[in-house]
Amino acid sequence: MALAARALVAPHAPAADPDFARDVELGLTSPRKWLPAKWLYDELGSALFDAITFLPEYGLTRADDRLIRRAAHDLIHRAGHPRLIVELGSGSGAKTRALLEAATRDAFVEYVPIDISAAALEHCQASLSGIPRLRVTPAEGAYLAGLDRALADREPRARALILFLGSTIGNFGRGQAGPFLREIHRRARPGDSFLLGADLVKPEPVLLQAYDDSLGVTAAFNLNLLARINRELGADFDLSRFTHSAVWNSRSSRIEMHLRSRVAQRVSISAIRREIRFRPGETIWTESSHKFRPPQIRRMAERAGWHFAHQWLDSEWPFAETLFTA
Ligand code: AVJ
Repeated sequence: MALAARALVAPHAPAADPDFARDVELGLTSPRKWLPAKWLYDELGSALFDAITFLPEYGLTRADDRLIRRAAHDLIHRAGHPRLIVELGSGSGAKTRALLEAATRDAFVEYVPIDISAAALEHCQASLSGIPRLRVTPAEGAYLAGLDRALADREPRARALILFLGSTIGNFGRGQAGPFLREIHRRARPGDSFLLGADLVKPEPVLLQAYDDSLGVTAAFNLNLLARINRELGADFDLSRFTHSAVWNSRSSRIEMHLRSRVAQRVSISAIRREIRFRPGETIWTESSHKFRPPQIRRMAERAGWHFAHQWLDSEWPFAETLFTA
């Protein structure tokens, strides 16, 4: 049965990405199984994440949106009326619209969205067409490589505003966020600014519901990672033998998403020629979503070389936009 299904699916399967295969091998043969969160976002995973942003339990994206809309003019002013706006991880570009409208009110602006998903960049470009005085130049690929190119290609005197929204910073490991902020700072020059969107600590039940919603969309988003391994790496994960789990790790101030094996089982992954064993209850750790306190965001960026300029907070769903200058 499983074989027949695979034979049907295989001709349409995308060519196996060697980086994906390597991460799957590394993560699933480790004593504590894990997979990097970035692989959650294939085309289907990105669509499922977009669905998550509409869930009543998941207030994060709406808070980010609301804050940016409210602060747009003030923000553009404090950033010194940038002529170049670079966004790390554009997603669909919806929340950036208000900011771009404010920035182009009386100046020509170039907007460079950087994303690893070509589909996301296409949506982003389409949804932003029609804003006067705006030129959109999408960059497909890794954040820092895209940022390098965008900043190198700018007009000599153009000030840049770099956006890192949606609390993607929360997905970085404990020791990774600081160095990443420093890498961004190293590429900026005096006069440039940086806007960081980060989700804040809130009561545990609120967080648990946000990452384990009643419709099961987040469960589908998480389980899609196993389905993706089946599709792209020729594996035979039986999704009904895994469950989604979200746990609050208070010591590390983060929500962790895991996929828990219900039973003892073996899964074979043909692209890496391996059979992976699972004990009953064993989990694959697929994502961390760190939650911050407002002063901690400021300190983290200051240690990376940034100067604090302003912070906007949402009270409905505690979230912070923090602006820094280089
Ligand atoms: C897109 C990284 C901000 O961590 O809240 C949503 C991803 N994971 N539900 C987050 C996510 C589960 C999301 N970020």
